[in-house]
Amino acid sequence: MKSHQRQYLQEMDIAVWLDKKAPVATRQNISIEDNTESILKPDNIMPVFTAELNSLAQKVAICQQCSLHESRTQTVFGVGDPDADWFVIGEAPGADEDRQGEPFVGRAGQLLNAMLLAIGLRRKQVFIANILKCRPPHNRDPKPDEVIACESYLRQQLSLIKPKIILAVGRVAAQNLLKSDTPIGKMRGHCYPCPGSDLPVVVTYHPAYLLRSPREKRKVWADLKFAMQTYKAMT
Ligand code: URA
Repeated sequence: MKSHQRQYLQEMDIAVWLDKKAPVATRQNISIEDNTESILKPDNIMPVFTAELNSLAQKVAICQQCSLHESRTQTVFGVGDPDADWFVIGEAPGADEDRQGEPFVGRAGQLLNAMLLAIGLRRKQVFIANILKCRPPHNRDPKPDEVIACESYLRQQLSLIKPKIILAVGRVAAQNLLKSDTPIGKMRGHCYPCPGSDLPVVVTYHPAYLLRSPREKRKVWADLKFAMQTYKAMT
């Protein structure tokens, strides 16, 4: 196991077993290193969008299809590689995201980065977006009419990026994407076809939930390994 992978597993609270015969220096060198925080923060340099994705982002930026445009600071289109194999879908922008115009930039975002790195994916290698492109006031759950108004943007993102797998993080993302009211705990551990595109969808808990319930990180680690197995089986 590479040392950087060990760091991210530790960030995820996954027990790391080291070979007793490994040199003492290696065994001691498993604390989160000084540079970890900067690696877990959103990357400053992101891949350049294609013309089509840029034009979609411009449409989203001026969207007034639901009342959320009245309270948003700006829209949060999504970020990452326009050619990504992995598409991560969250719920909606929070206060930090609304301010910065980028999804998952707060504490939950740092944990999401750690989750991805635990399976060897850097933030800039995947594409990250939300069910809603605008922040619901006081971080309330998205309303059905807001989800419907935003749905076509997500569909267009998926058809332009053409990922190989979708990772839905959290109940709101999973239930809205899969048009289901099954509790998230029951959705885990299965692969679902995404309505409208048939892309495989794997579900896991939201990193904000993990910040409140760190014991659930083990389940997320299992989900991430399952997602990677699913991805590898298809490529
Ligand atoms: N939570 C989400 O679901 N999405 C974000 O972009 C930030 C927090």
